[in-house]
Amino acid sequence: MRMLDILEKKKRGGQLSKDEIAFFVREYTAGSIPDYQASALLMAICLKGMNEEEAVALTDCMAHSGDMLDLSAIDGITADKHSTGGVGDKTTLIVAPICASCGLKIAKMSGRGLGHTGGTVDKLESIPGYRTALSNEEFFAQVNRVGVSIIGQTGDLAPADKLLYALRDATATVDNIALIASSIMSKKLAAGAQNIALDVKCGSGAFMQNKEDAEALAKLMVKIGKSCGRNTAAVITDMDTPLGTHIGNALEVTEAAAILQNRGDAQLRELCLTLSAHLLSMSYGSSYDDAYKQAETTLTSGKAFLKIQEWVEAQGGDAHVLSESECFRKAAVHSTVTAQTGGYLTHMDTHKVGESASLLGAGRAVKTDSIDPAAGIVLYKKTGDAVRKGEPIAELFASSDEKLQAGKARFLEALTFGEAAPKKRPLILGTVV
Ligand code: URA
Repeated sequence: MRMLDILEKKKRGGQLSKDEIAFFVREYTAGSIPDYQASALLMAICLKGMNEEEAVALTDCMAHSGDMLDLSAIDGITADKHSTGGVGDKTTLIVAPICASCGLKIAKMSGRGLGHTGGTVDKLESIPGYRTALSNEEFFAQVNRVGVSIIGQTGDLAPADKLLYALRDATATVDNIALIASSIMSKKLAAGAQNIALDVKCGSGAFMQNKEDAEALAKLMVKIGKSCGRNTAAVITDMDTPLGTHIGNALEVTEAAAILQNRGDAQLRELCLTLSAHLLSMSYGSSYDDAYKQAETTLTSGKAFLKIQEWVEAQGGDAHVLSESECFRKAAVHSTVTAQTGGYLTHMDTHKVGESASLLGAGRAVKTDSIDPAAGIVLYKKTGDAVRKGEPIAELFASSDEKLQAGKARFLEALTFGEAAPKKRPLILGTVV
């Protein structure tokens, strides 16, 4: 087989066979295919497309390019959730203890934040003492004992995706739905869970800016998951406004703890119950409505809050910060943003809000940046809310005046005010099962 023939075929819009895709993934990962040929193929895929069959084959080959996590040491039904990334997304911290309280086993590896989006590992590390690096034996033993453990990436999961993602980033070939779906799903398949719920974000803070693209991505990921033998469901959710009210690592842990104690943002609670219900329904074969009731009862009863405390303690973290947020990390400086004019907050550019949080110190511009766990934003007003001139819109937190000013300038750029109330967007825009 020759890479040149594969390139010629895709250039003309042909369908690549499983063997051709396997050849490309195997030989590129081994270093035998040069970057210029791989780049040419990625660009041809962007221009000519990839059908479902090709996307399934690409995913499967990338998933098998490295370690496939073996969860057979876990006693019970395994479940995982994935978000395509957004601003203020702390759903994992809520969904994991709800599902674990209902008997599912959550053995999850999560990533760090980069750019305008946050990462679950950074959020968990803001809890004093929480260990995100466990040995495989500790990881599996905790999941069997407590029902949940979330750690940083270990092992060599989907190395082909790692290499191809870096190449896509440098060749303007990231924004292709088949390539995004294969990239995400290859890592989910390698991570081993039998049941997978996907949260596909849509709007100004997300990869997918419009609903049609988000729906196409959700459908393809569900198709890939099912074709590769995993129960998979997706919800498409609004990311045109940040999720919940808190953005930044310790702040998001505090908000997650509030939801688990039956306080806080109603939409965030709704999304977490929806994702939990999909996982429970797929795992136990129950109806979605019954699964939703199960998740809701568990949350309302306080069992899920006890579960997050048990989980954090098992992983070395100080669980007191979950119930006593005043003991949690405190930022050195803070500032209130007030409305310059009265009317309605008609739009909040969520990408810019994410950048603002990052400039405040909550995120990284490049992988090697360090982060400030206390930095971030608490929103008092969200898109669609009426505001009076001078009323507080948000509180910003940082470790220095310089960061505070940089974050504040970007936050102000994110806000648009108007005289008429904008149409309220629902949080959940669609479901693919
Ligand atoms: N996240 C991924 O892991 N891969 C993509 O291609 C896009 C987002």
